[in-house]
Amino acid sequence: MAKLWAGRFGKETDLEVNDFNSSISFDCRLYKEDITGSMAHAAMLGKQGIIAEDEADRITEGLQGILQDIENGTIEFSQEYEDIHMNVEHILTERIGDAGKRLHTARSRNDQVALDLRLYVKKEIAAIKGQVLQFMKALCGSAKKNTETVMPGYTHLQRAQPVTFGHYMMAYANMMKRDVIRLENCLEGMDDMPLGSGALASTTYPIDRDFVRERLGFARITDNSLDGVSDRDYCVELCSALSILMMHLSRFSEEIIAWCSWEFKFVELDDAFSTGSSIMPQKKNPDVCELVRGKTGRVYGSLFTLLTALKGLPLAYNKDMQEDKEAVFDAIDTVKQCLRVLTPMFATMELRKDNMERAALKGFINATDCADYLTKKGMPFRDAYKTVGQLVGECVKRDCALSDLTLPELRAHSELFEADVYEAIDLKTCVRGRKAPGGPAPEEVSRQIAAIEAFIGKREE
Ligand code: ARG
Repeated sequence: MAKLWAGRFGKETDLEVNDFNSSISFDCRLYKEDITGSMAHAAMLGKQGIIAEDEADRITEGLQGILQDIENGTIEFSQEYEDIHMNVEHILTERIGDAGKRLHTARSRNDQVALDLRLYVKKEIAAIKGQVLQFMKALCGSAKKNTETVMPGYTHLQRAQPVTFGHYMMAYANMMKRDVIRLENCLEGMDDMPLGSGALASTTYPIDRDFVRERLGFARITDNSLDGVSDRDYCVELCSALSILMMHLSRFSEEIIAWCSWEFKFVELDDAFSTGSSIMPQKKNPDVCELVRGKTGRVYGSLFTLLTALKGLPLAYNKDMQEDKEAVFDAIDTVKQCLRVLTPMFATMELRKDNMERAALKGFINATDCADYLTKKGMPFRDAYKTVGQLVGECVKRDCALSDLTLPELRAHSELFEADVYEAIDLKTCVRGRKAPGGPAPEEVSRQIAAIEAFIGKREE
């Protein structure tokens, strides 16, 4: 079959090369962006008198028909025509004849693909952002119900100080907030319309790039044609933002995996979001979380695919850039799929508050509060720290909690201990007292929830 470029060539393309070169198997998903971009281009060509107005109209109608037929599933793309751009152009020309052959005036596939991918990424950023906001809402919902649910906070995975489940969830909500901001920054930074860059050196036709920009909803036009066709920074930025997002989801998943174990048993996943074992009848596994954790590597992989593909490229377009699409698509698909399962899994997860409390009562997470008690009664903090350290040592030997020691036992270490110490080291008191901004005190966590809800609300207006 004759290629679009057959004029210069004396032979047909080797079949293996055909396969190798072709991107239609994956860039077919850009069909809508390709057609939308072509419609804007055709309208501009007509308006500028570069092609006749009626031909521009025929192109638009033809493209509309193709769009419908693709969506009805009645069009089969061909490897022969390499990519989505040439497939659409070929079908258009078959349908409307010569007018179809004029569509590619003042355009190259290089600026065409640059445009299509930007349109696609813009759309997907909005979709992913929406999913992250949904997840944040679920976190806020759970946090609201659990501003008083005491659990141990950890450092080095050792019980450290008391927090609440609500406080814990708001930590993740704040991480997601930064992910949303990163996605927004990526979107804002890439909002430049590249069509009109041509193959690399723009064009001699009197095009109106601003008209196309406006039609396609971009904020600006790209400022340099060489850069316009070869810039994939936004793909790198997207994959970087998605890598960080996945890193957050992976940390979250890791916590849930631990919390599902009998060693913690802080949470119970809904049966619909867990899996069993083929041999061990007792098993209920957090596979969803493990897959999210595992898939994080794929998204990092996309980031490195892009960085590596781009690092040696001279200006302007190089075919290496065709490799950008699968990396970007896979990162987007993976993140969306993870969020689609993780949000309802989290929303249906039950808490085992009894186990959280039991864990909180053991492990001396009120030791700092006990030292603070003595400090507030006048003992220097370093001395108080030492005194409580000795008390903890005694408790470890006797396998009991600080609150199990009698007042005389406490007073044997310091006369400053009085009956009110038990109230002071009660976990509820310890949490309520931590009302410094950012802390786990219920009213402070309520403020954190309100701040995140305002952030979400602003984006849903
Ligand atoms: N399929 C190509 C890609 O994805 C489109 C641009 C091809 N341009 C070229 N001069 N070969 O990058």
